[in-house]
Amino acid sequence: MLHQDMIAAIGHTPLVRLALPGTGAYAKLELQNPFAMKDRVARQVVLAARESGELLPGAPIVESSSGTMALGVALVGTALGHPVHIVTDPRIDPITLTKLRALGCFVHIVERMTAQGWQSARLERLAELRATLPGSFWPQQYSNPDNPRAYRTLAEELIADLGHVDVLVGAVGSGGSLCGTAKALRESLPELWTVGVDCVGSVIFGQPDRPGRLQGGLGNSLVPANVDHSVIDEVHWLNDREAFESTLALAAEQQIFGGNTSGSVYRVLSHLAAVEPPGTKIVAIMADRGDRYAATVYDETHWLEKELHRLPAAGAPVEVPASETVHGWSYCFPGSRRRESRCAAALPS
Ligand SMILES: Cc1ncc(COP(=O)(O)O)c(C=O)c1O
Repeated sequence: MLHQDMIAAIGHTPLVRLALPGTGAYAKLELQNPFAMKDRVARQVVLAARESGELLPGAPIVESSSGTMALGVALVGTALGHPVHIVTDPRIDPITLTKLRALGCFVHIVERMTAQGWQSARLERLAELRATLPGSFWPQQYSNPDNPRAYRTLAEELIADLGHVDVLVGAVGSGGSLCGTAKALRESLPELWTVGVDCVGSVIFGQPDRPGRLQGGLGNSLVPANVDHSVIDEVHWLNDREAFESTLALAAEQQIFGGNTSGSVYRVLSHLAAVEPPGTKIVAIMADRGDRYAATVYDETHWLEKELHRLPAAGAPVEVPASETVHGWSYCFPGSRRRESRCAAALPS
């Protein structure tokens, strides 16, 4: 497929039918973007800011991220001739750091935590930096409506490929990808069932905050403005061991080398494929490649150091009331909708 530049090469990702028992299960390989899923967000946010005049030609872009958003902003920002400043902390993985520097970004690594840990240290550094960089633009993925808006293209690709989607599964961090894709799909598919995947110890769906979570990309200690709870019908939580084991299973069973959020959505997708009625089309969004996780998720030494084998690992999820604190794979229906077709499919014929 010919593209005139790297920005045009964002999106148009493969949709792959997975070898899973049960109904039609598909992986949307956002990990096949030039860097990862957030390339779409960076393109939308940066182009909209240039269009509105908030970002002038040649002005700096400043973002706090150590993952996919940093890479997307690095790609789009530098391609359009903006100096890109990324504020991060010492937990950044070496592969992302190498990629950011190779693209010519200025990477600012804060040295110590402040009152609210690394997050506040990064935001304080970002504010200091912006004071020295007049005209700088801050994408703010957690609240910028151009984040969910970026996924209209993803929804259009799914419709073009499948014609119809019954169930959409995605990890929730800022909320942009799952809520943005679901809202765009519901314009033509109002019955779409939306399943969010989070980690144990994240507050997004009302669980108590548990610092020290090992899973990256999903979960949060605050509820981001871009999480639109009204479009999410079902929520699953996995603990660190379950998420990492599922990531290894995704590679071994489906030949997809992904990050831990792809592993978690794969676990939930496999479960849904087994309990949904025949003919249901289920799509899971797989956000990034596994290379950044070589020394963690995929490394036995890391497993031993973090004593991951000591955590419980469930073979199937347990339904819990939305208010119950969870420790392993669990799910709930946070809204008023119920999946009647699934109940019917589970009844003996
Ligand atoms: C690897 C990965 N997966 C999933 C997510 C969650 O996506 P969103 O922020 O759109 O909720 C992110 C977010 O940064 C991510 O980096």
